[in-house]
Amino acid sequence: MRVLGIESSCDETAAAVVEATGPGAWQLRSSVVASQVAIHREWGGVVPELAARQHLRDIVGVVGQALDQAQATWAGIDAIAVTQGPGLVGSLLVGVSFAKAVGAARNIPVVPVHHLAGHIESLVLHNGELPYPAIVLVVSGGHTSLYHLPSAGVYQLVGRTRDDAAGEAYDKVAKLVGLGYPGGPIVDRRARQGNPHAIAFPIPKLTHDAREPGPATHLPAGFESVLKRRTDFSFSGLKTAVRRHVELATDGGARPLTDADVDDICASFQRVVVQTLLDRTFRAAEWFDARAIGIAGGVAANAGLRAEAERRGAAVGLPVFVPSVALATDNAAMIAAAGLRRWESGTRGAVLDFNADPSLSL
Ligand code: KG4
Ligand code: ZN
Repeated sequence: MRVLGIESSCDETAAAVVEATGPGAWQLRSSVVASQVAIHREWGGVVPELAARQHLRDIVGVVGQALDQAQATWAGIDAIAVTQGPGLVGSLLVGVSFAKAVGAARNIPVVPVHHLAGHIESLVLHNGELPYPAIVLVVSGGHTSLYHLPSAGVYQLVGRTRDDAAGEAYDKVAKLVGLGYPGGPIVDRRARQGNPHAIAFPIPKLTHDAREPGPATHLPAGFESVLKRRTDFSFSGLKTAVRRHVELATDGGARPLTDADVDDICASFQRVVVQTLLDRTFRAAEWFDARAIGIAGGVAANAGLRAEAERRGAAVGLPVFVPSVALATDNAAMIAAAGLRRWESGTRGAVLDFNADPSLSL
């Protein structure tokens, strides 16, 4: 069974072919990503209108390349998986419309997929089926969410960010200290040269507040007490602490940061982010008696996060799974994998009146 994946939720137009040789046994046949980073860099962030227009220009060529690289023709594609949401609506619409049009014209079933299910299933695509129950941290530019997977393909949200996503914090801190866009990979590199204990940025802690979500019915029994024990994340306070530190260190912008200052800020910021992410992830693994931990999404490419997760996993005897760097950032192979997961659990394509949903929940 061969699935064509299509991803266009943000600023990457991507297509990929994944072949299933058995349940949860998925082989990557091709993966093509057309990045729009060069277009958005000029603006310091993703401009939705520009993103949608670029998807429109790129999608036909990207899909064609993915088929060519997999040495596949449309006749050899058994299903199309497409990101339905969440994301930028104009961007999502390009992938969804393309998938529905080809599906209708060629009589190929179309499976709508949640973007975060894609990030989660990138772990299985790269590593093979995980041991369950598993705790998976999805950490990207738009999301920081913790999922409990009691079994394959079942995703229960057990924690999420109250404000900024971790990747967003990376990008904002990079901007504050004058590094380029997107900031995550650059901060990661600079952090390797700095002293992670140079600056004592605060470890974000949450207290009860009005924004705390009420009990949700789709969550496992006992979740409320788990919630009280804090599985949510917050990164806006840390970002503010970095801003204040930069203001002090530069006399309110009167003199520039030295390279060594920037290295130390990056290293100290990253130490706090990594600790915050992993404290909650490992605590959740304990509560849910998890047999494995997964870390997916763009920030899972971070070298510091990978190394520390590996170290903590080894210390408590829990295997830690991450995707390859190429499968960590947005791509369509993960979308094809999530489509295969839905197919394997009985979904045989959607009625073609489904639409892009910018705030789709998992
Ligand atoms: O998953 P992704 O490609 O797109 C979203 O779904 O958001 O994640 C992109 C985010 C960006 O914020 C980027 O700065 C961050 O992932 N990122 C990193 C690294 N590589 C990408 N953050 C920290 N360290 C990295 N090496
Ligand atoms: Zn993503």
